[in-house]
Amino acid sequence: MSTATTQGGPELPQERRLVTEIPGPRSRELFARKQSAVPPGIGTTLPVFVTHAGGGVVVDADGNSLIDFGSGIAVTSVGNAAPRVVERVRRQVADFTHTCFMVTPYESYVAVCEKLNALTPGDHDKRTFLVNSGAEAVENAVKVARHATGRQAVVVFEHGYHGRTLLTMTLTAKNMPYKQGFGPFAPEVYRAPLAYPFRWPTGPDACAEEAAAQAIDVIDKQIGAENVAAVLIEPIAGEGGFVVPARGFLPRILEFCRANGIVFIADEVQTGFARTGDLFACEDEGIVPDIICTAKGIAGGLPLAGVTGRADLLDSVHVGGLGGTYGGNPLACEAALGVLETIEQDKLVERARHIGEIMLARLEALKERYPIVGDVRGRGAMVAIELVKPGTKEPVPAGPIAARCHAEGLLVLTAGTYGNVLRFLPPLVMPDHLLEEGLSILERAISQG
Ligand SMILES: Cc1ncc(COP(=O)(O)O)c(C=O)c1O
Repeated sequence: MSTATTQGGPELPQERRLVTEIPGPRSRELFARKQSAVPPGIGTTLPVFVTHAGGGVVVDADGNSLIDFGSGIAVTSVGNAAPRVVERVRRQVADFTHTCFMVTPYESYVAVCEKLNALTPGDHDKRTFLVNSGAEAVENAVKVARHATGRQAVVVFEHGYHGRTLLTMTLTAKNMPYKQGFGPFAPEVYRAPLAYPFRWPTGPDACAEEAAAQAIDVIDKQIGAENVAAVLIEPIAGEGGFVVPARGFLPRILEFCRANGIVFIADEVQTGFARTGDLFACEDEGIVPDIICTAKGIAGGLPLAGVTGRADLLDSVHVGGLGGTYGGNPLACEAALGVLETIEQDKLVERARHIGEIMLARLEALKERYPIVGDVRGRGAMVAIELVKPGTKEPVPAGPIAARCHAEGLLVLTAGTYGNVLRFLPPLVMPDHLLEEGLSILERAISQG
């Protein structure tokens, strides 16, 4: 805990301020302690130790104020220490901190579920239950789909990321660092091609149709549609590199699922809650999933995740078949209600679109100037650039450019199956001047080769 009197939240000066090198001496000291106390498996993107954060900045233990293009990996979309979240959590923590919803319930859990039932795509009858993390939401969605269909197979996609538990790391595509040495993996998981326009062998135009045909072929020939419980997909692949599937791919897969009694699960853990310029990314192509998994942006950083889906599917599970000690903790539920109020009242869906317009225009201009930028993609405040050796599609690691941004006080994240994607996830409350300044730092970092 910080001893400084300043508080975090939107009142923090919205400025980049470097008073030491990055990381500074106090952060380096703390990092040395981290290295002796925490295993290296828990990596560090940028070893500055945070004392405050809010709006579009993160302040570190040396007094540096960094521009935040990461939002704690798409979590603090309403900003850190957002006032409505802080106020609700403050009140709740003084009332009670836990009962276990399965032992003695409380209203805020039900209120969050009602909201998710109303706000997620589709006006059909829905149910929601709450868990602690994105991985737990995905695991539970698969459990429900298997239970409801009596089938076992789960189909996932190349470049997909779904978490780090046994099942969700199995569902995840990329070996290093997520799976290496952690096998054996869970059975009955099958992988299909994703419509990745930039890398589709015959080019982006045929991508949706060809990828969907290949995915359906995997299901038909390798598994048998009648054995498939669920198809699980991120509407925009997050860790895989912000791959926006070619238009038409998702609707075709959904149509196939509908025709074959397969549960279509949308993993909106990273894309949800206004991030992409819609409340949920599925809305862009009118996709109505049977089950939708949410987490991250749902509760401003308090651990919460949701499984929302067709009432007939979720109601099929016997009493006591779902749950967990902490799922839907009252502090996290109050935080989620504060987040949802903030998204609505501060018009953050519109704000995400505005951020997208600014970022995509500047990144497209970068692509014109610097041939290392092979692709610019994304929607709303979830955008990325893919780096390649000029004139080819050969990946160029994103790490060195990210490190240059970090040194200048811009927090950016990398991603991608090939480690060559810089991804940008600013808080939706970031003021335009910080967004522009961050993009200028990025440009300088790229111009250095
Ligand atoms: C699409 C997606 N699904 C699932 C997860 C796992 O969520 P968690 O880290 O909360 O378990 C993530 C996390 O990055 C994600 O991006």
